Amino acid sequence: MRHLMSPLDFSVEELDKLMDLANDIERHPDKYAHVCEGRILATLFYEPSTRTRLSFESAMLRLGGKVLGFSNAASSSAAKGESVSDTIRMISCYADICAMRHNKEGAPMVASQVSGIPVINAGDGGHQHPTQTLTDMLTIRSLKGHLNHLKIGLCGDLKFGRTVHSLINALVRYDDISFVFISPEELRIPDYIREDVLDAKGVSYEEVERLEDVIGNLDILYMTRVQRERFFNEEDYVRLKDFYILDKKKMKLAGPDMLVLHPLPRVNEISVEVDSDPRAAYFRQVQYGVYVRMALILTLLEVNV
Ligand code: CP
Repeated sequence: MRHLMSPLDFSVEELDKLMDLANDIERHPDKYAHVCEGRILATLFYEPSTRTRLSFESAMLRLGGKVLGFSNAASSSAAKGESVSDTIRMISCYADICAMRHNKEGAPMVASQVSGIPVINAGDGGHQHPTQTLTDMLTIRSLKGHLNHLKIGLCGDLKFGRTVHSLINALVRYDDISFVFISPEELRIPDYIREDVLDAKGVSYEEVERLEDVIGNLDILYMTRVQRERFFNEEDYVRLKDFYILDKKKMKLAGPDMLVLHPLPRVNEISVEVDSDPRAAYFRQVQYGVYVRMALILTLLEVNV
């Protein structure tokens, strides 16, 4: 039985196969409409979510399966003090696969160690968000045609942003990838990413504060939200929340083929005037998230179509 805790749980070849399957699902949805009949997905969300939870539920329903779960810890027995380990033991009797989001780093990993069913990490604290990474990779591969030879700008909260950490981990395995980290001093990428992932693999990167200085050289601009829920004090959040606002003026400095991605939700960091720009790919990214989660469910349940 396999779980998904990190994008590194899959080899590059397995990721390519998963994305091929997602593209086939996109092209031939009818072929997959009943393949999970009789199967149940549990969504265990201890932290708020719109896209991840609902795209998992949409994915399972589009495969002909059923879903159950909870969308906040307060409505589960976690509010009475039940541990994640005990909860997953119960859920293993109710469902065939589960997606778990938790505010504590490592909680899905703890669950996977005692689970009787595949566990998917749907975001754990500031650590990892592997299915967002699969979504991002499928979006880039589908719209650019490849995952090699890319200069990727990551902008905003690079310290707490789990989507950023997961994406860096996944992309360093491809050829000729370089990063530009665009953040205020307080929200720079953690040292462990710099040392254990980038330096260890000899990946080229630079760290800057001004988006305007680098936007013209990027193939991908990955915007992120400054996350209020990860700050220890409101004053720091208020000072940093509008540090970056991508607007039409800044988009004029970017190349014609640069894609703008964002895991969403956005707050102010992308002005709505950018939404109609053909380079804005963040709503198309959401659709790819459903296809890749369908492919992931089929892979972990070992359903061959
Ligand atoms: N991208 C993402 O994780 O969105 P949600 O928090 O709405 O699930």
